[in-house]
Formats: sequence, C-alpha cells, structure tokens
Amino acid sequence: MTSMQYYLQQDSLQYDRTIFDILRIFDPAFQWGTVQDGAVPIAVQCQEDCWSICMGETSRSFAVAGLDENQKRRLLKQHCYLLLQQISGDAAHPWGIMTGVRPTKIVHRYWDSGMSAEQIKKAVQEEYFVQPDKAALLADVTQRQRAFLLQREEAARQVSVYLSIPFCPTRCAYCSFPAFSLPKPALQETYLTNLLAECQAVGQLLRQQGKQVQTVYIGGGTPTSLNAGQLQRLLEGVQRYLVWQPLQEFTVEAGRPDTITEEKLQLLHQYQVGRVSINPQSFSQRTLDAIGRHHTVQQVWDVYAMARQIGFDSINMDLITGLTGESLEEFMHSLDCVAQLQPENLTVHTLAVKRTAALGLDVLSVQQGQLVNAMHQYLQQWLATQQYVPYYLYRQKHMIGEQENTGYCLPGKESLYNIQMMEERQTIVGLGVGSTSKYVNTEDWTLTQRSNPKDLYFYNQRIDEIIARKAEQLRQL
Ligand SMILES: C[S@@+](CC[C@H](N)C(=O)[O-])C[C@H]1O[C@@H](n2cnc3c(N)ncnc32)[C@H](O)[C@@H]1O
Ligand code: SF4
Repeated sequence: MTSMQYYLQQDSLQYDRTIFDILRIFDPAFQWGTVQDGAVPIAVQCQEDCWSICMGETSRSFAVAGLDENQKRRLLKQHCYLLLQQISGDAAHPWGIMTGVRPTKIVHRYWDSGMSAEQIKKAVQEEYFVQPDKAALLADVTQRQRAFLLQREEAARQVSVYLSIPFCPTRCAYCSFPAFSLPKPALQETYLTNLLAECQAVGQLLRQQGKQVQTVYIGGGTPTSLNAGQLQRLLEGVQRYLVWQPLQEFTVEAGRPDTITEEKLQLLHQYQVGRVSINPQSFSQRTLDAIGRHHTVQQVWDVYAMARQIGFDSINMDLITGLTGESLEEFMHSLDCVAQLQPENLTVHTLAVKRTAALGLDVLSVQQGQLVNAMHQYLQQWLATQQYVPYYLYRQKHMIGEQENTGYCLPGKESLYNIQMMEERQTIVGLGVGSTSKYVNTEDWTLTQRSNPKDLYFYNQRIDEIIARKAEQLRQL
C-alpha cells in the first residue's frame, strides 16, 4: 500500500483532512500526490440522501438521510477505511478509524450516557473499527479514570497548574518537545523572574475567585537542568503563590538523570514535591548513545536509589519503544530493570517522529512498525506478570507501529495531573514558554485553549501582555 499515490479532486477538497487521516493509517508517511505523478484520484460525491467515495475505479456509497454533519463525516471515514482495506488487502488496523490524540475522551462520553463496559467495547468496535484488545484497553483505562474525574461543581472550583522549564542540557535526537539547550545564566534568570511573575499573578487571581489548585506539574524540557539555587527559587514561588490549601499532587518531571543531584532531590522533597520522574527511555547504553541522550544507564540506577533514600514514594519512569536501532531483546531488558526497580508509575511511549526532531520520517518503515508492534505484544505479556494497571492513554501523529502511549501505575498510584490533563475535564493553567492553558466550561465540558509564545525571547519581551491576557481569561472562569 505504501507505493500507492492519491490526489484529491478539486470538488472534494473540503474533505482533505478527513481522508488524509485515514490514508495515514494505511501509510504512515502518506503525502498527497498529483495528477502529473500518475496518482489515483479520490472524489467524494454528496447527494442529499446518499454519499459516495471513489478511489480510481473503486467506490462505496452510503445513506446519509437524517444525519448531522458529524455523523456524515464519521460514515465517510468508515467507508474510506473499508475501501482502502479492500484495495490494500491490509488486515484490520488496531485503532481502526480512531485517529485522534485522545481516544479516551470519546469513551468517557459513552460512560456519561450510562453505557456499560461491554456496550462500550462493542460500540468502539462497531463505530470506529477498533480491534477487541484496544477496545478492552480503552474500557479498562477509562473505567479506572472515572473515580478521578471531577463532577461539574468540583470542576468549577478546582484547577491544575503546569509550569514550563523549557531547558535541557543537550537535545536528544528523537525529541519532539519544545526545548532549548540551556541558555546563558542571565537569560535563565530573566526567564525564571518572568515565570514567577506569571505564577504570582495567576495565583492571586485564582485565590480571589475562590479556586483551589488541585495539582501542580513542573515539566519541560528538564526542570532539573536549573541549578539548585534557581530550583529553590522556583519551588519557593510555587509554594508561596499557588498553595493556599494543600495540593493533592505536586510533580516535578526531573527527567534526565544527568541533571539530578542529591542536593536537588533534597530540595524537591523539602518543598513537598511528592512525585518525580526519572526517565531512562531505555536501559540499553547502546540505545542511549544512539539517541544522543547524554547519560549512562548506571546514572538511572544511582539517581533512583538516591530518590528512594530521600523518601520519594511516587516515582515515574518513561520508556520509549522504537528508538533508533533498539532490538526487542533490549526492550525486554528495560522491562526487566523496571520490574526490579518497581517505580509507582511507568509510562511507555511509542516513538513519534516529528518534523522538529533530528530523526526523519524515513524511520516509519514497515519493518520498524512490526518491531514496535512486537515490543508492545511482549509488553502485554510482561504486564500479566506485574501489578501495573493502565490509567491514562493517548496517541500521537507519526507514531511508529500502530500503538499508543500508556501510563501504568501500581494500584492506587495514579497521577491525578495526567488524568486531568488528558481527559480535559478540569481547567489547566499553563505558565511559561510554550505552555497551553485549557479553560473548561463545566456546563458542557467544552474547552477554550490559549497558548503562551513558544519563543523564549518573545515570552520575555511580552510578559506583561501575556499576564494581562491570562488575567482576563481567568476572570471569566
Ligand atoms: C516532555 S518529555 C520531557 C522529559 C525529560 N526531559 C526527559 O527527557 O526525561 C516527556 C517524555 O516524552 C517522551 N518523548 C519525547 N519525545 C518523544 C517522541 N518523539 N516520541 C515518543 N516519546 C517521546 C519521552 O519519554 C520523555 O520522557
Ligand atoms: S527528551 Fe527530554 S531531555 Fe531530551 S531534549 Fe526532549 S525534553 Fe530535553
């Protein structure tokens, strides 16, 4: 199927995104072709009661009488998928036509309507062609999350706050996150000053409005790439401006073990950070070297032991499947190490290839996809021998294979922030460079999204304006 080329006929261009998303399921590197290249035309014909989709000589028609626009588009997706399956001879794809980043949000709407787990599994299979194992995973994750989703009244009162430290000591080859190599100390200080000014203004407003901060998450980048003095200033600011009632969760995504020292861990503990991430990505030194992650496997073990000794009882570890040159055996070894360490949270990401990363789209090969799928199959076997349960899940574009990112936890150790952030039923105020704020309307769970500038210089220059705009938005909460 990967050799197929398609173009969309002029009169069907309004369905570009819908059809493109389905084509990408069959060919992760798909790009539209042209008539000149000999690409096959795709057309969508819309009569009042009946639509059809044609790909070259092959077509499917479907009745649309009485359906709204969303329902019609869903049917278009279904039939586009079926047509491509017929043309390509591909077996069913694990996620069917559920191409979005947050498949669990769809499932929560089913739970809201009173459906049972069995009915939900059936619905996602029938309506989205999701395969039974993924349907079961969706039902499992969302059922676990239900206890943590806020009721409307609570959601109107509680928010979470994200603070961005967009610095890293060096940039990893695969990274798709906005992160800068550590700038000069003076620039770091200016950033910190502005971030804390934003934090202070937001804290004041939230407090005046009678809101409560449920969770705080300091992420990045790598927050522990700040030096101990800067880190202390940041933590002090968070405690002073955001904590007027005890937080239910305070996370710092320490991340890269080469930035974590005993002094910094002590500071985190002293300022009541309860949850930290120490991310190996892989326990194979060969892989770490290949992906330009400048730390050793030994550092992961050492820093983890240090964190335990200091008293952290909620540690997350991130792994990634599909990293450059990594074999199934190396991934199995990483899981063995996790089994020994028993972090409370384990997040297994599937490598997503973004244009901003140093790696190119060429790693999205069929063989690499098969390898990643084998890793996830093994992961399921491994999980059956462990206590870990899945508690949040999301997907990304350009993922290798047909998997997802899943957060696992030991029972009772779910990260609240991860659930709130993924399910979008709580306002999350994002502070700092590149952060996104999501303001939830609790009447209908709709969202208003606003992002801070991604550029560090622009953020520093415009801080007064950024704060004023954020204040305006918060007053409407
Ligand atoms: C925002 S990053 C920051 C974490 C921290 N700086 C570190 O590297 O440990 C959060 C996680 O996203 C994952 N990640 C980053 N780029 C990725 C990519 N292209 N595909 C899949 N996962 C990715 C990694 O597992 C990483 O730990
Ligand atoms: S993976 Fe983490 S440490 Fe590496 S560049 Fe991305 S944010 Fe920075």
